[in-house]
Amino acid sequence: MLFELTEEQKMIQKAARDFAQNELLPGVIERDEHQKFPAEQIKKLGELGFLGMMVSPEYGGSGLDTVAYVLAMEEISKVDASASVVMSVNNSLVCWGLEQYGNEEQKRKYLVPLAKGEIIGAFCLSEPEAGSDATSQRTTAIDKGDHYLLNGTKNWITNGSTASVYLVMAQTDVSKGHKGINCLIVEKGMPGFTVGPKENKLGIRGSDTHSLMFTDVKVPKENRIGEDGFGFKFAMKTLEGGRIGIAAQALGIASGAYELALKYSKERKAFGKEIRHHQAIQFKLADMATQIEAARLLCLKAAWLKDQHESYTLAGSMAKLYASKVAMDVTVEAVQVHGGYGYVKEFHVERLMRDAKITQIYEGTSEIQKIVISRSVLAD
Ligand code: CAA
Repeated sequence: MLFELTEEQKMIQKAARDFAQNELLPGVIERDEHQKFPAEQIKKLGELGFLGMMVSPEYGGSGLDTVAYVLAMEEISKVDASASVVMSVNNSLVCWGLEQYGNEEQKRKYLVPLAKGEIIGAFCLSEPEAGSDATSQRTTAIDKGDHYLLNGTKNWITNGSTASVYLVMAQTDVSKGHKGINCLIVEKGMPGFTVGPKENKLGIRGSDTHSLMFTDVKVPKENRIGEDGFGFKFAMKTLEGGRIGIAAQALGIASGAYELALKYSKERKAFGKEIRHHQAIQFKLADMATQIEAARLLCLKAAWLKDQHESYTLAGSMAKLYASKVAMDVTVEAVQVHGGYGYVKEFHVERLMRDAKITQIYEGTSEIQKIVISRSVLAD
């Protein structure tokens, strides 16, 4: 067992850290306050290869491994989780799914610009009445010969208005249950496709979350990913990798808050000494550091398994379940270490605490992760 990063992985980690400090930190408070999408920063992330990290260079990607992706996600999320969710959805849910299951024509047309970050993508599974219960899709894609007729509504779609390409899950044959679901590649601008108003969220406020409405949208048959009825499995396989990305996001939010708490403990004085000399603070920092290290190991193990082409269903869900809990616990404690200053925006930790909560909700709630984990541990 080797707990050593390669030179390339260390280089990616440093590049992401520098980008977060130089490009994301300035303005992060204002973007959160005004719900402003980090458009310029996302463009730069794309130019640096962070939006198609694991895609083969043949399709415009950086050809890196999942471990490097986790390291980059952690660094970006320490500073701006609104930017890192864009990165996560584009890398894990859109690019990975297209590279893995798309055909050559789909890869050339859609994956290449997505991996280069020239455009961004969205993954559309959740509906007003189908979030965790993902098999109950109400959106329909009726087979009309050379095209599908798409009707329905999708909810909570990250990159909802900024994406150009949308992977949309829809029911073609309700009698077949989940085996009647297809994944269609929908382009912005297709007649009948409209984007609803932006959600006003608790956290990740710089990210762009919308409902999407489809009314008699004609989607060409060649835009279906995989065989007829492959859509649900496509979504599940894609989400498995997505969960590693969100686990890394949660890890980053936790480690960002911890680093701020540590720094503050060396600056702030109370009862005649820096607060780091008080055991009440020392114990908090010790707990935070231990939880973060455990979460990091779970994330890296899941990423490593994926890179070894081993099953990572269990490891990915464990990483997401644990890292998202650590993100909540650590950010709450980081606010506490800061006292009153932690409750105001300039000190960043209150934003990280608000951002942390979504990691227990999207790409499968903590309860969904427990279902996946318990099924695995109880399997014969
Ligand atoms: N890989 C491959 N196939 C899988 C699978 C996986 N990981 N998980 C399930 N399947 C298959 C099953 O084998 C089964 O197929 P067969 O009938 O051929 O055997 C089929 O899918 C149905 O499986 P289940 O009976 O287990 O389905 P279920 O209804 O019990 O649901 C679930 C399983 C794990 C709860 C699943 O519905 C789930 O993961 N739900 C959560 C969905 C989710 O994560 N939503 C987040 C939205 S996306 C998002 O948040 C993106 C964003 O914008 C940030």
